[in-house]
Amino acid sequence: MTANRGNGARRSGSRGQDGSRGGASRTGRGPVRDEARNAAFDVLRAVDERDAYANLLMPRLLRERRLGGRDAALATELAYGTLRGLGTYDAIIEVCTDRAPDPDVRDALRLGAHQLLKMRVPPHAAVGTTVDLVRLRVGTGASKFANAVLRKVAARPLDDWIAIVAPGDPVGRLAVTYSHPRWIVSAFRDALGGDEAETADLLDADNVRPLVTLVARPGRSSVAELAGEGAEPGRFSPYAAYLPEGDPGQVRAVAEYRAAVQDEASQLVALALARAPVEGRDEFWLDMCAGPGGKAGLLDSIAAYGDPGEGFPGGKHLLAADVQYHRARLVWQTTREAVVITADGTEPAWRPGAFDRVMLDAPCTGLGALRRRPEARWRRDPAAVAGLGGLQRGLLATALEAARPGGVVAYVTCSPHLAETGVVVADVTRGRADVEQLDAREFLPEVPGLGEGPYAQFWPHRHGTDAMFLALLRKR
Ligand SMILES: C[S@@+](CC[C@H](N)C(=O)[O-])C[C@H]1O[C@@H](n2cnc3c(N)ncnc32)[C@H](O)[C@@H]1O
Repeated sequence: MTANRGNGARRSGSRGQDGSRGGASRTGRGPVRDEARNAAFDVLRAVDERDAYANLLMPRLLRERRLGGRDAALATELAYGTLRGLGTYDAIIEVCTDRAPDPDVRDALRLGAHQLLKMRVPPHAAVGTTVDLVRLRVGTGASKFANAVLRKVAARPLDDWIAIVAPGDPVGRLAVTYSHPRWIVSAFRDALGGDEAETADLLDADNVRPLVTLVARPGRSSVAELAGEGAEPGRFSPYAAYLPEGDPGQVRAVAEYRAAVQDEASQLVALALARAPVEGRDEFWLDMCAGPGGKAGLLDSIAAYGDPGEGFPGGKHLLAADVQYHRARLVWQTTREAVVITADGTEPAWRPGAFDRVMLDAPCTGLGALRRRPEARWRRDPAAVAGLGGLQRGLLATALEAARPGGVVAYVTCSPHLAETGVVVADVTRGRADVEQLDAREFLPEVPGLGEGPYAQFWPHRHGTDAMFLALLRKR
């Protein structure tokens, strides 16, 4: 990373017109170092150079540099917004340049384009601060180049640019308009049955930061308790509460693992598994891919303590496994009653038919949670879909083996990609008379729009949740 380049720049506590600190007057007395923009630039460079995660690095930089309040908010919006939008910005920058910019200049141009086209930063401030940044961090020649490019970018609003740069084919147009890789647009469109307007809504929803959603683990916390700390009851899950502001780690129940941060769809797929009827014994539950423990944390509470509101009696036992020791440790930390082991689900450490309910939250591409990490969409690799297919099929086969006749298996992915969802389930269950497909939607009657069934598919634009997939299978 290049965080310390640009030494010797002046600092000042006054605020510029764009709301950031660092604004000594820009009246020809040399470049001004703008702390918020420097932090955003450092995050972009770290993401590009060493695959950093923006939402891990940014809070650290803000802490180290003692940036708070408006500066922190500005730096965060600059970095995250630029990373989300860079598919669009790169297409625009490309037509405004006659040569490919060096990576550091390209990141600065992206930052400038984001301010010009998406934020309400006045054009002279957006261009001026970016040119100063390039001069301080890259050099004077590059700053002249940046100035020329950004003046061209500033000449049109975003919609006009999109009309100019977006390709004519539907997938290409959606990819540039909503800043997603083409292959992801294609996969989403397939999962939405080819509906382009709805695909656009989905891509748009991916560009919005999700609400922080908490889960009140039954028997250990309640939505009422979370509401007492400023959270609002969730839309669908009886355990969900949205935290409009503040650090969830400061919520007492979260600090004590009685509650946690958890997407509402993650809560609902666990709830659906607990709701599906099983005949006879219902004592032993398995979470086969439990790390870091979101679903296991909820299943643990439902199993052990029950929930009168749902008619869950409690007194059941959860075994939670993960192949990675450090992830199994996280499960151990967040659960209270569960037995937690490190184990490979494809080589079961348990007897066949030992469990009444099995959760298989399979390793997947995570395409359903792109809105959570600003750079995630650019990191995903289409080859990973095929690469994970064998493991997903192997795990589902052993999950079915782990369930007793009459028991229920939930196959879950945080991806709506058909090759990771319905295709896997169809491949594994094809020709098997001992497996019955349940209509997963029946166990989530409070949630509309889960698709044609028998699967349940959540969507950010329909439900405000991650695009989580659920299949429920009964072992005969
Ligand atoms: C999608 S994550 C599970 C998320 C988790 N259920 C939650 O709600 O927090 C998939 C997990 O599967 C684990 N995993 C991958 N291969 C596995 C295997 N062969 N056996 C068991 N766990 C595996 C990964 O380590 C990862 O923690």
